[in-house]
Amino acid sequence: MKFVLAFCFSLAMISAGAVQADAAAGQSAYAAKGCIGCHGAGGVSTVATNPTLKGKNADFVSKSLTDFRSGARQNPIMNAMAAGLSDADIRNIADYIDGLK
Ligand code: HEC
Repeated sequence: MKFVLAFCFSLAMISAGAVQADAAAGQSAYAAKGCIGCHGAGGVSTVATNPTLKGKNADFVSKSLTDFRSGARQNPIMNAMAAGLSDADIRNIADYIDGLK
């Protein structure tokens, strides 16, 4: 894990601000955008109707959010929530959730 983090960090440095997921920014966005209110601290939901996100991988999370944003996946709550996310928010949140495994 440390190696993976160090590796990602080096990649982020090399690409210097290019499209690179940022789990720390994802964690901030997860709180700031209100996701935490329904999906819980650390992605563990305490409300049966809200899915737990911990354990889901980055591809699944980013596809879900992209589909909610485009309307390809329909859910009134998540369509509204995803509408406020940029591509970078989606990448970063997906990376943060992925790291909760
Ligand atoms: C008001 C409550 C609420 C808020 C706030 C909320 N969600 Fe959700 N979220 C849900 C519900 C309910 C579902 C289930 C929707 C469905 O499957 O149709 C869901 C589904 C999801 C899924 C798909 C999970 C799966 O297993 O299929 C992801 C990913 C997700 N939300 C991420 C987020 C993110 C990121 C945010 C913040 C931008 C957020 N949610 C904010 C209630 C919420």
